[in-house]
Amino acid sequence: MKSLSRRAMGNWKQWVMCLALAACGVTAVSCDRKAQPPKTPGKGPKTKIVMGFAQVGSESDWRAANTVSIKAEAKKRGIDLRFVDAQQKQENQIKALRSFITQKVDIIAFSPVVETGWEPILRDIKRAGIPVILCDRRVDVTDHSLYMTYIGPDVVEEGRKAARWFVKNTSGEVKVFEMRGTPGASCAAERKQGFEDVIKDHSRIKIIHSQDGNFERGRGKEVMEAFLKSPQGKQFNALFAHNDDMALGAIQAMKEAGLKPGEDIKIVSIDAVKAAFEAMIAGELNCTVECNPLLGPQLFDFVEALIKKHIVIKEGVFDQSQAKEAIKTREY
Ligand code: AHR
Repeated sequence: MKSLSRRAMGNWKQWVMCLALAACGVTAVSCDRKAQPPKTPGKGPKTKIVMGFAQVGSESDWRAANTVSIKAEAKKRGIDLRFVDAQQKQENQIKALRSFITQKVDIIAFSPVVETGWEPILRDIKRAGIPVILCDRRVDVTDHSLYMTYIGPDVVEEGRKAARWFVKNTSGEVKVFEMRGTPGASCAAERKQGFEDVIKDHSRIKIIHSQDGNFERGRGKEVMEAFLKSPQGKQFNALFAHNDDMALGAIQAMKEAGLKPGEDIKIVSIDAVKAAFEAMIAGELNCTVECNPLLGPQLFDFVEALIKKHIVIKEGVFDQSQAKEAIKTREY
């Protein structure tokens, strides 16, 4: 299969500029000096886009939904997706990224399991002329030209939202057990940072214990079981879990220990997966902050804009039966 990446990626900065202009409605710009964009929309390169995606793993309901979204969207758009599940291991992700270079894919996307240690492989990918997109988690690199963009949520804000729930909905001393995500993951550090940003102005709310639960339900349960046996486990009255799965595991451990989660212990977590709603309906979880895993459409919009050189504008068809209603919101 012919690789499109070198041709399409003559100058990354130029492309980013092109996309920014396109987002502002400016579409008739030349984005690549070597290969001019197709003059007629839809007449771009016909070769199938080949994308390598190195997924973190399958640690949570959020991740499962994220994987489905990416695979389904690739299928819908006829993209040849080379998908690798790295089972929460950075070395597996690096191995996958290296194999994508060998396979000469057009574009690479990945959700970095941890934040550091990416520069050497990202430099190799850049040398191979393959653009990189970061999904949902960030990398800590000094050279930001090693990736094109980050598509993901405002994770620090998620931590702030969780803390704001405690500020608004509790009174008196709040002694929080913070159950953190995977050690070294950008989202674990950012959720912590956001939460602490808010509680620093509310001295009645304190983190009395902070521990990793790896974003896994089983681990969340084990960690809570051990914590409940410790002296601090007798004092806490709140749980901030960096994801729903860990909160759900912890809830199970609390129930087995004779506690009433949601009442004895106020619980806030992040993701907003269906199981969290079930727990809220059962009164066992107090709040979940949404982290949207359905990144597929936005990811592939970006990929197609980049590789196919065409950002498709949404257009409709209107007949007489709709005209009266539709005219109310017409902007032109
Ligand atoms: O990176 C997103 C986080 O990873 C989700 O909040 C968590 O559930 C997942 O494992």
